[in-house]
Amino acid sequence: MSNFKLTMDKIVNLCKNRGFVYPGSEIYGGFANTWDFGPVGVELKNNIKKAWWKRFVQESQNTYGVDAAILMNPTVWEASGHIASFGDPKMDCKSCKQRFRADTLIENHSKGSISAEAMTNEQLETYIQEHHLTCPHCGSFNWTPIRKFNPMFVTSRGTLEADADKVYLRPETCQGEYVNFLNVQRTSRAKVPFAIAQIGKSFRNEITPGNFLFRTIEFEQMELQMFCQESQSMSIYEYYKEKALEFVEDLGLKSENLRFHDHDKLAHYAKAACDIQYNFPIGWQELNGIHHRGIWDLSRHQEYSGKNMSYVDPFTNEKFIPNVIEYSIGADRLTLALLCQAYDEETLENGETRVVMHFHPAIAPYKVAILPLQKNLSEKAQEFYSLLSKEFMCDYDETGSIGKRYRRQDEIGTPFCITIDFETLENNSVTIRDRDTMQQVRLNQEELVNYISKRIKFN
Ligand code: GAP
Repeated sequence: MSNFKLTMDKIVNLCKNRGFVYPGSEIYGGFANTWDFGPVGVELKNNIKKAWWKRFVQESQNTYGVDAAILMNPTVWEASGHIASFGDPKMDCKSCKQRFRADTLIENHSKGSISAEAMTNEQLETYIQEHHLTCPHCGSFNWTPIRKFNPMFVTSRGTLEADADKVYLRPETCQGEYVNFLNVQRTSRAKVPFAIAQIGKSFRNEITPGNFLFRTIEFEQMELQMFCQESQSMSIYEYYKEKALEFVEDLGLKSENLRFHDHDKLAHYAKAACDIQYNFPIGWQELNGIHHRGIWDLSRHQEYSGKNMSYVDPFTNEKFIPNVIEYSIGADRLTLALLCQAYDEETLENGETRVVMHFHPAIAPYKVAILPLQKNLSEKAQEFYSLLSKEFMCDYDETGSIGKRYRRQDEIGTPFCITIDFETLENNSVTIRDRDTMQQVRLNQEELVNYISKRIKFN
């Protein structure tokens, strides 16, 4: 039976104490809104990224992966519009000098029920005045007017640090996909419609980062750009909306915590845009985006690079610049959603509370924990560890009572615990305990790999 209120603090504490995620640079007092994935968290995030790659690249015949450079020719960011118009509406609290995004203040105040993205600066200011939104940091009501702020991180190459040496840390990965459109099309002999996908780091000097992994200044994106004919574009857009939803449901997010949200305001070149939102402990918030970007991206790169970005249809000889349907999801934000969804506090029959992470076994950090009942069974237990770690990510724990060890594994979501006991010495059989039901069965050593493999796959 579960009856608890999920808060972000519970997730942050569990993550810190169980090795999922630590505050960045912690021994130096931290570095705000940076996070380091620990031994358990890195497995979880890698499994999520692997599942995305498998679904959207490996199982999609017309999708090709790339891993493009983070530092790109600065003209890319002129072509993409990031230098001229990428910016968030920021305002400063004159009392405590903290900076905030006006739209985020409103969305947080309304717990996600108001979408501020389409509001003009005047509308944002009016809402803030009328609802008397005070500074979340010091509580005063003493705002500067709203101004635009470009969140691209700037660095320089070479030694002069002059303007000519300025380079940017990419604020999105998709530009690496656009600039390789011609390369991938040629080397893979790809025919439209085809997609280019990649997973990689992006950087944004966010004005209001926060809420743990939800909004950080350095994060990983999993992005895919589908290049297609205009006539196919709306049906491909709808296809990715459904496929994106199906993916996160298959990973374990519950449908009642997911919803589509059409954008109220579209960029001038866009034909449609939609988010999938998840019901985080901070309210309904964007999890991923699906965007119909028309021919904007390739046309702009054609204009700025001077390279012809047209595609020639091999059957009709028609020459055209393909439309782009983009699907983009943050790996860290999805990890956070899956942490929130998995978290459970169960009251057991004896009145104790069991914290358990009900991850889908396919993304669980460790699949198996090997637990010798007593220390003098270690040698036998190590034999099982050697065997099973060739197949699965395994944990090994011989300290503390068996009950405490089960609890530790429940808290990191390990689907199977194998106990080595004295019977194991006699006949190589072990007990295997299921995380969710806590039921145990006895199996022989040679049955284990098959038993576990079957149960950790997506259906
Ligand atoms: N190329 C399109 C693009 O970057 P976006 O809506 O700005 O679109 C896509 O970002 C996804 O990246 C978001 O839905 C979110 O999952 C993730 N994301 C964006 N900014 C983030 C941040 N500061 N911290 C963590 N994840 C972020």
